Amino acid sequence: MFVILSKGYSELSQQSAGIVSGAIRKRPDLRLGLATGTTPLGMYRELVRMHREEDLDFSRVVTFNLDEYLGLAADHPQSAHTFMQSNFFDYVNIAPENIHIPDGTALGDLDQYCAEYEATIQRAGGIDLQILGIGRNGHIGFNEPSSSLASRTRIKTLTSQTLEDNRRLFQEGQPMPEAAITMGIGTIVDARKILLLASGTSKARALARAIEGPVTAFVTASALQLHRDVTILADEQAASELSESEYYRRDFEVDSRLRRAAK
Ligand code: GLP
Repeated sequence: MFVILSKGYSELSQQSAGIVSGAIRKRPDLRLGLATGTTPLGMYRELVRMHREEDLDFSRVVTFNLDEYLGLAADHPQSAHTFMQSNFFDYVNIAPENIHIPDGTALGDLDQYCAEYEATIQRAGGIDLQILGIGRNGHIGFNEPSSSLASRTRIKTLTSQTLEDNRRLFQEGQPMPEAAITMGIGTIVDARKILLLASGTSKARALARAIEGPVTAFVTASALQLHRDVTILADEQAASELSESEYYRRDFEVDSRLRRAAK
């Protein structure tokens, strides 16, 4: 694992956008896994800027989102669809047919629907680069504690902590979905490269457990320890409970040059 400590949120956002844009310039038809949540917002803003000012071209990029709330239609203000459109897709030249987000209103056999989402990823050739945030309980996607580390895309019931954390995004009195369709941990770790972003003190404990703790289904981000190409970008606050600091990098520029040279 490459753990890179950023000075703050804006540096973290620029660094993550730099990694994504580098991957797109290298492979214009990049299959890119995306996450919702407040953490990647700065990265999306920076990617939009790069599209406008530096000709970063998304026309051949294919995206797969991690998850969607069960029961929310695409046009619901709190859906992952709306989040992605209004924070990113509306401002870049991505082809609508290249966007994939689980449908929260899928009807009929949901197991079949989830298997189809997996098959779509496979048909596209698998995910080249997966972006992740992390929940306060160490979840990635909506893979709550006790999720099988071999799980695939499926319906997952949300824990009370996740519901509480995400309530701020819903209007008062509005019912909140208590389940989601999410890529599984097995789906996520199939990605060729993974980039996890963590910002703020509320993530410090989860990040320390994920990186320095044992691999456990109770901190699903810890499964990333078994992946061969994971980069973790954390700002100082999110990194505040890490204790093995001698193993982590602060010099992102040197690090990225080394990595480029190694490829
Ligand atoms: C949700 C999403 C995750 C995200 C997490 C943290 O649970 N399913 O993909 O990483 O929230 O969100 P935030 O970045 O807003 O803290």
